[in-house]
Amino acid sequence: MTVPVITIDGPAASGKGTIAERAANALGFHYLDSGALYRLAALASLEAGIDLSDGPAAEAVARNLKPVFRDSRIWLEGRDVTEAIRTEKVGVAASQVAAIPGVRKALFDLQRNAAQAPGLVADGRDMGTVVFPEAPLKIFMTASAAVRAERRAKQLEARGLKADREALTRDLEERDRRDRERAAAPLKPAEDAKLLDTSDMTIEEVVKKVLDWWQLAR
Ligand code: CDP
Ligand code: CDP
Repeated sequence: MTVPVITIDGPAASGKGTIAERAANALGFHYLDSGALYRLAALASLEAGIDLSDGPAAEAVARNLKPVFRDSRIWLEGRDVTEAIRTEKVGVAASQVAAIPGVRKALFDLQRNAAQAPGLVADGRDMGTVVFPEAPLKIFMTASAAVRAERRAKQLEARGLKADREALTRDLEERDRRDRERAAAPLKPAEDAKLLDTSDMTIEEVVKKVLDWWQLAR
């Protein structure tokens, strides 16, 4: 039996993770935050002090990653890194190691193995184009750059952190450009993806749209 998969790809802070997790909960499906894997590879590379453009070194770090996902927390080598991987510094580093083909290859099986019954909602940049090309529902989620920077700023402030909106906008733009322009699995909609601009939509409206599409696609 093939496991049904819904893929949600798009640029940073477009709302992929929030929507994917809620849709997964509503359907009783598993949820894959593929970006967390690239963030983990980036954090481990930064901490190992390797040059982020050193392909073989970054690939070796990615191959040795043994993350544990438990109770909505993420653990690496016995340490809770749930917060540590969410900084924009790690986000930018993630987009650097994510451009290395060997790193993408090292993380491929971890992602494919997330497709377990009764189903999976996976979010990232290449879920529909590379990792789950057979998925019956593929969504490419966007929002304007200003809305996305504001959403990320509010997320930081909700965690009691300061948000520099100008720096955030710059970091998001740098990351999106690198993600779109790289040769390996660039950020782009799958040919059969449904496009969804969420700039003026509430979370509830977006989740409903995804579930409605799923009713038609399955
Ligand atoms: O995963 P991605 O980076 O695409 O986005 P996220 O981490 O889910 O962050 C999106 C933020 O925008 C969250 O704080 C949501 O509460 C908020 N938001 C949203 O996701 N979707 C909307 N339609 C409106 C707001
Ligand atoms: O949550 P946000 O959209 O800010 O980023 P993320 O989904 O956590 O991903 C962090 C970075 O990992 C992205 O900017 C991409 O460079 C990379 N990534 C990727 O290349 N492929 C994926 N499937 C997921 C993330």
